[in-house]
Amino acid sequence: MTGLGRIKPAARVSGQKQDVWSIINEAAAASPKQPIVNMGQGFFGYNPPDFILNAAKEALDRVECNQYSPTKGRPRLKKAIADAYSPFWGREIDPETEVTITTGANEGMLSAFMAFIEPGDEVIIFEPFFDQYISNIEMPGGKIVTVPLHPPSTGATRTSSAADWAVDFEELEKAITPKTKMIVLNTPHNPVGKVFSKKELQKIGHLCVKNEIIILSDEVYDRLYYVPFTRMSTLSPEIEALTITVGSAGKNFYATGWRVGWLMGPADLIKYVSAAHTRICYSSVSPLQEACAVGFEQASAQGFWDSTIHDMKSKMDRFNKVWDELGMPYSDPEGGYFVLVNMNKVKLPEDYPFPDHVASRPRDFKLAWFLIQEVGVAAIPPTEFYTDKNAHLAEDYVRFAVCKDDEVLEEAKNRLRGLKKYME
Ligand SMILES: Cc1ncc(COP(=O)(O)O)c(C=O)c1O
Repeated sequence: MTGLGRIKPAARVSGQKQDVWSIINEAAAASPKQPIVNMGQGFFGYNPPDFILNAAKEALDRVECNQYSPTKGRPRLKKAIADAYSPFWGREIDPETEVTITTGANEGMLSAFMAFIEPGDEVIIFEPFFDQYISNIEMPGGKIVTVPLHPPSTGATRTSSAADWAVDFEELEKAITPKTKMIVLNTPHNPVGKVFSKKELQKIGHLCVKNEIIILSDEVYDRLYYVPFTRMSTLSPEIEALTITVGSAGKNFYATGWRVGWLMGPADLIKYVSAAHTRICYSSVSPLQEACAVGFEQASAQGFWDSTIHDMKSKMDRFNKVWDELGMPYSDPEGGYFVLVNMNKVKLPEDYPFPDHVASRPRDFKLAWFLIQEVGVAAIPPTEFYTDKNAHLAEDYVRFAVCKDDEVLEEAKNRLRGLKKYME
């Protein structure tokens, strides 16, 4: 019962199964192990650096920073982004026509789909996928076509690089039809931690050029890579002409709540995504755009881009030691701040009292529930990022976000050592 009488909510928001975030957050709140160590959702456990925080505080004191920004974004931020990315592109990016600011990467991607997808158009996404892609594609009537990243066959027995999650290019080529309008790529990848190699990107790019498919390259973790990182758009002029690159100041500057993102690409693609963005939210939050501009202007001189990589890699290595200790295999991330751990070796007690909404989901939901109840650590079941057909590929994995203070990581490790008694 909705309490609305005759009024029915739209199908796009009704009848959805309970989402993973509410299952995990409710479980965490109800766990006997309080306080829970929350390594579930990918938010930072610490603040942006002072030079960016101070810029936000100062922006709030300026009259023009508290009013509407231009719909395509504040000129200072567009310029700062164009300046920051031009060296990677090997040419000057035009801040007026090739960059548009959005309310987080998520709304940027919604704008891109709204700009190009007509009902019935197909969009290819790799599984596992960032869950928001689904509704963002479906809202304008797009049809989702999935292509799995295949986990390493030895994933349950030994640790290997996240690079080993592989694209089957024949499978990808078969997924392309005359209706395919866009493909979404995510590198560095959430939740796998894979950084697509140049060769893989070239093959994907080649297929897109051959079939005239727009590439939405979600590069929100672009400052967190531990192996060489290639940006899709920089591969060739033909690929660049079809590529919209997605960025997130929230991810770059440890400020996911600020909701500042952007899209970069050829002017004749960007003008339509800007138009969609104007319809969706008109413009994005002004003082925080200003602070992000300062972030981009000063990051290199402050050594921030180097330290962000160094700090996150240290966190990753610090945390993953516990899996080495336990003999639990994981996919060693090449980028980003998530790690997928294979918990095939954890034996869940036969008669464990899982609630129905967990018992009816794949094994990773039970593992995540069990971890919360028994050791007091919250993590995310990755089958949420799969269609039902391919969920079995990830049902032994659990995703941990390591963007937390070192003491929190140490506390998590202490608790996770408690899994020993449930292992074979
Ligand atoms: C792969 C991926 N894309 C996009 C986003 C959304 O970024 P934003 O917070 O800037 O909307 C996330 C956030 O978790 C993500 O993991």
